[in-house]
Amino acid sequence: MYKGIVLAGGSGTRLYPATRAVSKQLLVVYDKPMIYYPIATLMLAGITEILVITTPQDQEAYRALLGDGSQWGLKFSYIAQPRPEGLAQAFTLGREFLDGAPAALTLGDNLFFGHGFTGLLREATSRQDLATVFLYQVSDPQRYGVAEFDAQGDICRVVEKPPSPPSRWAVTGLYFFGPEVTEVAAGVEKSARGELEITEVINHYIRAKRIRGIKMGRGYAWLDTGTPEALLQASQFVGTIESRQGVKIACLEEIAYNLELVDRDELRRMLRDKQDIPYYKYVLDLIEAGGPVPLV
Ligand code: G1P
Repeated sequence: MYKGIVLAGGSGTRLYPATRAVSKQLLVVYDKPMIYYPIATLMLAGITEILVITTPQDQEAYRALLGDGSQWGLKFSYIAQPRPEGLAQAFTLGREFLDGAPAALTLGDNLFFGHGFTGLLREATSRQDLATVFLYQVSDPQRYGVAEFDAQGDICRVVEKPPSPPSRWAVTGLYFFGPEVTEVAAGVEKSARGELEITEVINHYIRAKRIRGIKMGRGYAWLDTGTPEALLQASQFVGTIESRQGVKIACLEEIAYNLELVDRDELRRMLRDKQDIPYYKYVLDLIEAGGPVPLV
């Protein structure tokens, strides 16, 4: 059974002064906190045990927002990352939590959306012997980890923020690894910019030929929310889809209900006094309308 990690540490300096007093992943993306989106991704992958990694000073705020997760049929654990020393540290910090389980890591500021996404996620969790990364074509690959491909079109290397990118396929902030990942991450050395790079973990799996890169086609949206422009674009994207279709993206109550992690009576009880709040009214209307609707 895969366990999930959401990395919500970091100081979010590119969003200063907005993030001086509020952690970046607690900022709003249209109608809900940013961290709801990566949690939704893990839920759709069938994961219910989730470790939330925060800075020491922000942990209380995350606990206040998310609690123990039982309201969504989930189980949250929390751990503080004393200093942001790179993404690969998530696995060494999470060693006890993982306790030998395979791991899905998602970055707290990454938002995924698209028809069939649940299927891709289930594909990723179907093979514990293979790691999976998701690739997405972007206009500015030098901002990301970038995939290089061999003559057969297989991923043969990833490079972190290359000035001359070998392709336009960025490695998104959603990674699936086997239980050995804690050992692999422990062996990573700091890069020239002083970080334990996730790309080094990925390159280890590439060398071992134990990874697949799944290209997300143009029907998908992958947005990050690390700059004021990106944050605004993400809010506008979510707002556009939600108001056009009358559905919500990353509504954790809806996902929990559809996955039968909570039942109708429980939800009704929980939301009894919240029907005047638009977000919760959406959930109440949904559960009154009928049985679970399949999520695609
Ligand atoms: C991190 C990773 C990078 C990845 C990106 C996805 O970069 O280091 O490989 O492509 O997340 O969002 P960061 O956004 O922390 O600079």
